[in-house]
Amino acid sequence: MLINQQIILKQRPVGLPNSDTWQLHDGPMEPIQEGQILVENIYASIDPAMRGWINDRKSYISPVQIGDVMRASTIGRVIESLSDRFSKGDFVKGGGGIQRYSISDGRGWTKVDRSVAPLPKYLSVLGLTGFTAYFGLLDIGRPKKGETILVSGAAGAVGSLVGQIGKICGCKMVGIAGGPEKCQRLLDQYQFDVAIDYKNEPVRSRVNECCPEGIDIYFDNVGGDLLDIALAYLKFKGRVVLCGGISQYNATEAVKGPTNYLSLLTNRGRMEGFIVFDYLKDYPIAMLAMQEWMRDGKIRSDEHIEKGIEHFYPTFLKLFTGENQGKLILQLNELTENY
Ligand SMILES: NC(=O)c1ccc[n+]([C@@H]2O[C@H](COP(=O)([O-])OP(=O)(O)OC[C@H]3O[C@@H](n4cnc5c(N)ncnc54)[C@H](OP(=O)(O)O)[C@@H]3O)[C@@H](O)[C@H]2O)c1
Repeated sequence: MLINQQIILKQRPVGLPNSDTWQLHDGPMEPIQEGQILVENIYASIDPAMRGWINDRKSYISPVQIGDVMRASTIGRVIESLSDRFSKGDFVKGGGGIQRYSISDGRGWTKVDRSVAPLPKYLSVLGLTGFTAYFGLLDIGRPKKGETILVSGAAGAVGSLVGQIGKICGCKMVGIAGGPEKCQRLLDQYQFDVAIDYKNEPVRSRVNECCPEGIDIYFDNVGGDLLDIALAYLKFKGRVVLCGGISQYNATEAVKGPTNYLSLLTNRGRMEGFIVFDYLKDYPIAMLAMQEWMRDGKIRSDEHIEKGIEHFYPTFLKLFTGENQGKLILQLNELTENY
């Protein structure tokens, strides 16, 4: 009998989750029923959004309940199938959660092709991370050649792709990231023209110096003070893309909103939030574009892979300490070839 290991939500955190927020649970798997598949989950996407999913609050998706397996996008391999859509051995992408095995009726699962790209790329540049950068910048930001774009969280999974897509659009790219190493990566690997180290440099005066005519688009992954600074430098008809606000996700008091919002009024600007799921039907468009840009060497992505389901909590924390170097992924099972 197959024994599963799962990360279960044990209690709702106040502020930053702690080691009692989740617990590791072992238990036997039920046999699959007609129409179902048994998936060995190999890679799980570790996302800042997970912090919001464990709040007991109305949001764009229902909260993970106490006792539930922690929600996550996963890549895995079908090891048993009673479905006519999937066969044993297929590699698949879906919402497997933080558990080593999952059973599904296949709804929301799709096959992935390992000959096109290594499996982790399907959680990164060829997955929701890539689609977030693509639709956030192109559909909400609507960049035009020659414009100046400021990006926060620029060395992260989404931000690093935004930098490169913005460059493809012919824009001047200015990235904000934490620490000299990440800032060097912005320049050397992710095509940014300018890097600002928010941990060691005065951001306001650096933006003032690097963007003498102001900024056309601010792609915000962080919120808080950086959003206020960006608003102060917004140009006429400037756009603010609200992708995320990681600096506020663990807030125990009221979230810090922008005090500079009147800049939107005086500059006739637009600030718009989006959730990548809004673009579900258009994912194939982003997928094709990303594959082509990867093939042409115009886009690169880095994946930071940690191993072992028991390391879920320390891995998750890396998003908030900035220790992740690229798209954060947890490996739940070894990728063996003998099936
Ligand atoms: N709207 C959507 O549909 C959607 C979809 C996916 C992701 N997102 C959002 O996009 C953002 C980036 O997600 P990701 O998956 O690409 O994560 P990521 O950027 O790869 O990792 C998170 C990074 O955030 C930075 N950070 C953490 N705490 C911070 C703070 N207090 N102030 C400033 N920076 C901080 C850290 O970088 P440094 O070392 O540079 O500080 C950290 O490495 C998140 O806000 C996420 O919620 C939105």
